[in-house]
Amino acid sequence: MKKSKIKDSRLKIRDPKAESQDSGFKSGDSKLKIKDSRLKIRDPKAEIQDSGFKTGDLKLKIKDSSLKMRDPNTGIQDPGFKTGDSKLKIGVLVSGNGSNLQAIIDRIKEGKLHANVQVVVSDNANAYAVERAKHSTIPVHVVDYKAFPRREEAEQSIIALLNDYHVGLVVLAGYMKLMTKKFINAFPLRIINIHPALLPSFPGINVIQKAMNYGVKFTGCTVHFIDEGTDTGPIIIQAVVPVMDNDTEETLAQRIHEKEHVIYPLAIQLFAENRLVVKDRRVFVDGYMYSGQSPFINPYNP
Ligand code: GRF
Repeated sequence: MKKSKIKDSRLKIRDPKAESQDSGFKSGDSKLKIKDSRLKIRDPKAEIQDSGFKTGDLKLKIKDSSLKMRDPNTGIQDPGFKTGDSKLKIGVLVSGNGSNLQAIIDRIKEGKLHANVQVVVSDNANAYAVERAKHSTIPVHVVDYKAFPRREEAEQSIIALLNDYHVGLVVLAGYMKLMTKKFINAFPLRIINIHPALLPSFPGINVIQKAMNYGVKFTGCTVHFIDEGTDTGPIIIQAVVPVMDNDTEETLAQRIHEKEHVIYPLAIQLFAENRLVVKDRRVFVDGYMYSGQSPFINPYNP
């Protein structure tokens, strides 16, 4: 009896305002709210009062930021990193399955991401991502690091490729090689990565299993700029997912990947719109806000 009472009372989710049970915190409703709110882009002028950014501050931040689309050599803005129809030119680096590459390709086809994948580069000829690129008739190049005496030479050939294709943003999508300082400096604040954990927790590899083993109740994924550390660059977007008691590494990975496929194209779109403002290590999104998105509480009743 005692046990069942505890079970009953502890797991009910109550509406904090109404203090009544069964209040509408049903998964269907809350999922719908999140879906509705996630992609809203508001008029920065209309929302400026709510945003916490004062116009003056914001302008200053943008002016200060090195992220404005400037040619690193000439300082000239808009140096041709966009196609004629003003789509951002991206190069995607892959090593494996390529589901994030696919999500990017799909959002572009749907017209939700105003970018063009100029080139895909893989360090692994057998990566399924290579097939995905071919299927979408995207130029694909395999750069086998073993064919070069040193990592720097392999990177140099990738830098040359990306420049040949006039890439304005380098997108690491499951790319398993670490970058040298030289590569990073070739594309200052123009390389982004997606990581399957909530950084700065669990940097490195095998992090889905590591987060589970640690016993976290939430994990997720992070899109961030690349800097010289391992998964330490300024964070652009994070998405949170709960870790359920009956999760395996596969089920948790699946839940994380679903979010990755939402936030990675979104981050690229924000970059394409020139909205990302980097100040120290914080990334501000000019004129873009999430609204009405509640954090998950775990354990919860889905
Ligand atoms: C993703 O989980 C990403 O977070 C990590 O590598 C994985 C790549 O998956 N960096 P895919 O190749 O895009 O399917």
